[in-house]
Amino acid sequence: MAQLWGGRFTKQTDQMVYDFNASIRFDKRLLQQDIEGSIAHVVMLEKQGILTCEEKDAIVKGLTEIREEVEAGRLDISTQYEDVHSFVEATLIDRIGDAGKKMHTGRSRNDQVALDMKLYVRGEVLAIQEELKELLTTLLHLMEDNLETYMPGFTHLQKAQPTTLAHHMGAYFEMFKRDAQRLQDIYRRMNYCPLGAGAFAGTTYPLDRTYTASLLGFEGPTLNSMDSVSDRDYVIEFLSALSTIMMHLSRFSEEIIIWNSNEYRFVEVDDAFSTGSSIMPQKKNPDIAELVRGKTGRVYGALVSILTTMKGLPLAYNKDMQEDKEVTFDAIDTVKDCLRLFDGMLSTMKFNHEIMEKSAMKGFTNATDAADYLVGKGVPFRDAHGIIGQLVLHCLDKGCAIDELSIEELQKISPVFEADVYDAISLKTCVEKRLTTGGPGRQAMLDAIEMQKAYLNTL
Ligand code: ARG
Repeated sequence: MAQLWGGRFTKQTDQMVYDFNASIRFDKRLLQQDIEGSIAHVVMLEKQGILTCEEKDAIVKGLTEIREEVEAGRLDISTQYEDVHSFVEATLIDRIGDAGKKMHTGRSRNDQVALDMKLYVRGEVLAIQEELKELLTTLLHLMEDNLETYMPGFTHLQKAQPTTLAHHMGAYFEMFKRDAQRLQDIYRRMNYCPLGAGAFAGTTYPLDRTYTASLLGFEGPTLNSMDSVSDRDYVIEFLSALSTIMMHLSRFSEEIIIWNSNEYRFVEVDDAFSTGSSIMPQKKNPDIAELVRGKTGRVYGALVSILTTMKGLPLAYNKDMQEDKEVTFDAIDTVKDCLRLFDGMLSTMKFNHEIMEKSAMKGFTNATDAADYLVGKGVPFRDAHGIIGQLVLHCLDKGCAIDELSIEELQKISPVFEADVYDAISLKTCVEKRLTTGGPGRQAMLDAIEMQKAYLNTL
């Protein structure tokens, strides 16, 4: 037990209380951020005449050494300390003596931990954006390579209309692009420095908070010291963005699991990204996709956990807020793993073009186009819908596709049909005629790809 406090106590802390209260087991992850923040703080204290140049230099040197030694594995973050802040301060005092005791002047662990967590989350916002960029790049390649890979599109998981693999991948590009934009928004909103808020009421020392903020790459200082130490909104926003990323990954995983099934065989997940069964020798299972889908619950859990932790807290700091760390760290690790694994699985996956195309030709995916054909010949849409409905029923009876009927058979159902119907409802025509912005037709896709490429270049 090594504590920064104890002067007003008459008894040793109960060991169970100590263990329950301590956070070093997990907040040791914040060592880099803690030291970075302390260096900025003492540089500012010296500029303001609160520390001498010698004191500042001794502290900066001591902190830098601690950081390097921990990084090199020469110094262990000992769990005998309550938290990472205590570990750093006590180790520093141990090494440089009195100057070290001045580091915490004009600071509280409340603004210190608020800063450390903010620095950590800010870094992870960028790191996760990088992972998203990788995935977006994979998706863009799939789009470029599959402009004419025809496949059925589904609604209600029933075949609906034909589309292309490029178009389907483009849908996920949009989702993950919004996820990256969400992270950008969060970065902008959270990028204000809480250091200098003290315990909650600022401090009487003449701190230059704007200077500290600029040293740490913040837009400026936060504007209310009470809020500064109480705010975990940015963690909540971040976990919400992570949850949305997982929701998208999970939907995508679900599709891959379906496409990889024996019934569909649209895709084959690479051997390196599949696993087997201990009893059934024939099995090759899409475990990665299933795990990504499964881990989504865990990230949602982190979001709900912090929302719930924060909901009843009076201002300002409360120890409950220490609970923000473990779940957030776990969510970050999970999302990074999932993005990486998913990208690996997607970029090695084999798409069975022939099977997808055959599937697109079955299941009356051209029924809408057949109705549109009649509309083109002057039949009102609602009537055309009815006629094609009858036609589908007839085909179901015969066990064939619409374009497998002879022109005579078609004309029995509606005399409006002419020989040009076959071309009008072919798979290629059905897709290529869909040229509205955002549609699967080749030119519409090429336009979209152009814009997505330009976006990727800004990331
Ligand atoms: N370990 C604490 C946390 O994560 C650090 C802040 C402690 N502040 C305090 N007043 N006890 O929140």
